[in-house]
Amino acid sequence: MTENSKGTALITGASSGIGAIYADRLARRGYDLILVARNKGRLDELARRLTDETGRAVEVIAADLGNKDDLGRVEKVLRTDASITMLVNNAGVGATAPLLASDIDKMEEMITLNVSALTRLTYAAVPRFVKRGIGSIINIASIVGIAPERLNGVYGGSKAFVLAFTLSLQTELADKNIRVQAVLPGATATDFWGIAGTPLEHLPSEIVMSAEDMVDASLAGFDLGEQVTIPALPDARDWEAYEAARQKLIPSLSLSTPAARYRAAG
Ligand SMILES: NC(=O)c1ccc[n+]([C@@H]2O[C@H](COP(=O)([O-])OP(=O)(O)OC[C@H]3O[C@@H](n4cnc5c(N)ncnc54)[C@H](OP(=O)(O)O)[C@@H]3O)[C@@H](O)[C@H]2O)c1
Repeated sequence: MTENSKGTALITGASSGIGAIYADRLARRGYDLILVARNKGRLDELARRLTDETGRAVEVIAADLGNKDDLGRVEKVLRTDASITMLVNNAGVGATAPLLASDIDKMEEMITLNVSALTRLTYAAVPRFVKRGIGSIINIASIVGIAPERLNGVYGGSKAFVLAFTLSLQTELADKNIRVQAVLPGATATDFWGIAGTPLEHLPSEIVMSAEDMVDASLAGFDLGEQVTIPALPDARDWEAYEAARQKLIPSLSLSTPAARYRAAG
């Protein structure tokens, strides 16, 4: 840990897009960094620039988080590096094709990265955070976690998992001084779209945010203590009403008798 450091933030998917902007912003906030992705050349270049510009210590780990051995190496770092105080679970891939046009092996790879890797990394980080009574996790979900009709259903399902997992962790870790934030970006101008199967230029520009604005908004939400941040949503009361409706449902979802409308039909 370098002097005046807030500890180290480990950021997955830091070689481009949203993850690279988190790296930039967190270094400027005083975090040392561990940057994880497959493309070592891009990670090294970013690490050099951020070290030059901010003086922070920046390490890189080239790892394919879809590969169990590589993932295991990153889990080990999270379990053992006492300087780590933040995990940004950002690495992820999407798809824009519907079910009938999708390759099931690609869908499974997406679940492995977006769901399984994120879960394993969280399990590796949390026990040490709890032991030290300090730590933050930022989980990059997506608006499709609550609007799965908008894109490929496996992608939406994977991001609904990230949101549900985050909500559950917030409750479980509430009294342990561990912050867990879910970020639900809308369309963001990164390589994501080309890789997912739809060029960015095909999207209406009024729905696309820059990665810089997206990350700055999500960190502003983090500073406000938000549990769920939706960078584009103009009125926070709309999310609060949605969440209040969900909370109102909870006591009625598990009861000893079926609802009257089903008994009447029997
Ligand atoms: N862009 C959007 O519109 C949007 C909207 C909502 C949510 N998101 C979410 O935001 C996150 C970041 O995406 P982005 O938009 O910044 O896209 P991006 O520029 O394509 O970045 C994805 C990052 O994940 C890394 N990655 C991909 N597969 C990996 C693997 N198997 N192992 C390790 N790293 C891997 C990539 O690096 P390497 O190729 O070097 O491995 C890259 O650094 C994702 O979780 C995405 O679902 C994006």
